[in-house]
Amino acid sequence: VASPTGLVLPIETIVRELDRLGVDTLVDAAHAPGMVPISVRELGAAYWTGNGHKWLCGPKGGGALVVREDRRSGVVPLVTSHGRNDPASRPRLWKEFDWQGTIDPTAILSLPAAIRLVGGLDPGGWPELMAANRSLALEARRRLSTALGLEPIAPDSMVGAMAAVPLAGLATDAEAVSLARTLAVADRVEVAVAPWPVPAARSSPEAPATAVLLRVSAQRYNDGSDLDALEGALQLRLHVAPATPRP
Ligand SMILES: Cc1ncc(COP(=O)(O)O)c(C=O)c1O
Repeated sequence: VASPTGLVLPIETIVRELDRLGVDTLVDAAHAPGMVPISVRELGAAYWTGNGHKWLCGPKGGGALVVREDRRSGVVPLVTSHGRNDPASRPRLWKEFDWQGTIDPTAILSLPAAIRLVGGLDPGGWPELMAANRSLALEARRRLSTALGLEPIAPDSMVGAMAAVPLAGLATDAEAVSLARTLAVADRVEVAVAPWPVPAARSSPEAPATAVLLRVSAQRYNDGSDLDALEGALQLRLHVAPATPRP
């Protein structure tokens, strides 16, 4: 899941095709756990990382690194772990990665509880929650695209629980930061507003952004009233017409 656009990339195809060319993939799946169904084993990427503090609602700092069996011997941490010389027969990667320095493992140890708790909120568990979040993200995208008079940036099949739309009339990094701040502080709407491409992806530090993207995230605590609030705030700040006329 790409961060600035929120788009879900066809990762199975990407991994398979690169594999065919002899290229290993490291899948940055920071947003994937809890947003889209995943089977790391079936995906078969050489390396995969995912976060627990995004859609799984775990504490910050918990995540996972998965290394395919045939690549494990080449992977070592920058800081080795307590227990590296543990004579017990635990996998070498666990011994070397699990307890580095004085790291606080609370976030990692809390993840199973977070997964159980959030997955227990709906009768249908995680699949139901993920589907509901996706529906709300799609609704947000429809409403914002209509209000802004724009075509969606990608097909519905590439939407998970986030949706980004370009904002006409804004172009600079400073304008993006300023709008995000106004929406958060004055309108109490937390939404990502970021220049596109991100600075690190531009040809030089001086190269300007070509667009500013507004990215909505839909989690279980959101509903249509949050979209109303966002639409109202955009009307106020950008003079955008509402997608759905309100009384
Ligand atoms: C695609 C992607 N990779 C990596 C990260 C960084 O995650 P972390 O919070 O672990 O620094 C993010 C955070 O938004 C992300 O969206």
